[in-house]
Amino acid sequence: MRRRTFMRAAGAAAVTLALSGAALAQETVKIGLILPMTGPFASTGRQIEAAARLYMQQQGDTVAGKKIQLIVKDDTGVADVTKRLAQELIVNDKISVMAGFGLTPLALAPAPLATQAKVPAVVMAAATATITEASPFIVRTSFTLPQATVPMAEWAAQNGIKKVVTLVSDYGPGIDAEKAFTGAFTAKGGQVENLRVPLANPDFSPFLQKVADAKPDALFVFVPSGIGAQFMKQFVERGLDKSGVKLIGPGDVTDDDILNGMGDVALGAITTQHYSAAHDSPENKAFVEAFKKANPNMRPNFMAVGGYDGMHLIYEGLKKTNGQGGQALIDAMKGTSWTSPRGPVSIDPQTRDIIQNIYVRKVERVNGELYNVEFATIPNVKDPVKAAKAN
Ligand code: PHB
Repeated sequence: MRRRTFMRAAGAAAVTLALSGAALAQETVKIGLILPMTGPFASTGRQIEAAARLYMQQQGDTVAGKKIQLIVKDDTGVADVTKRLAQELIVNDKISVMAGFGLTPLALAPAPLATQAKVPAVVMAAATATITEASPFIVRTSFTLPQATVPMAEWAAQNGIKKVVTLVSDYGPGIDAEKAFTGAFTAKGGQVENLRVPLANPDFSPFLQKVADAKPDALFVFVPSGIGAQFMKQFVERGLDKSGVKLIGPGDVTDDDILNGMGDVALGAITTQHYSAAHDSPENKAFVEAFKKANPNMRPNFMAVGGYDGMHLIYEGLKKTNGQGGQALIDAMKGTSWTSPRGPVSIDPQTRDIIQNIYVRKVERVNGELYNVEFATIPNVKDPVKAAKAN
């Protein structure tokens, strides 16, 4: 029923478009940016919107002679809302691209609409490996959890860690992280116990008590961006900071937006990820400086870089298609490569996922602030789940 209404509305929209004259429709390219701007994941929305606006401020709002219009919508972190907003943006606003998607369920909900309407969807945040398989119109500029996590397992195995407890948020990306770590670490002879904590309003304390009892060499943690501070507080309250259990994981737990507020407890945490505000390159120095100037009191995190690069991918795609959307635009995005603030990246033409360096980092105090300081690089990492399927 819903689908029929949508199809009818889409048909009507096509007629209106033809009547109003193609010239008018071509002059503006609309990008629908759907993000959690309120609720527990508002930091993700704030970071991505700020970065997308910065990109447009730097690169201008005209591409291939077309005016670019950014339409930002708040889905409040609720998947049904994301879907409704995507439908409205497609039918009423006639967007050429949708983008954003702060969490896995929010990226999956509008995927069938992207396919039906042939509107490319640029996933700037959500990171469960399978998301790009939900529609041939999805392309991703964030990362996948297995991509960030396998290098963590390898580092742990090579650095004397033998026994690990994993603690992950119990949904797509957490399960991806748990499986990727457990598979790679046990393959190297490591021993793992798995714990999962609910995503909504997490109370970590009963799980942290189990960790204290198990006395592992390391605690591997995945919580989505924005939740790390809550986790760290309870980690300290349970006395785990003084227990000798090393903190490791993909970089979401020490995300740059909240890391500096965590205090000394975060010092020494080892994480693997694709972006640090401390990444040492001219592109990143310029990005961090411009981001801070445009957004006083904010530091860009990996969500911001996903948004910034997502806008770059849209701009580059539109340049190649001369402003056309649809199948031509998604095809144009495949294989695009550039130097991001995070380092060299490219869009895998087969999977539409991003290929990028993963860095091993340690939380250190630099000029009075906490940063994830990179000390090793694994170059050009593909999502290992899809790479394994392809072989
Ligand atoms: C996700 O829901 O896919 C997600 C959200 C935040 C992260 C990572 C993954 O930091």
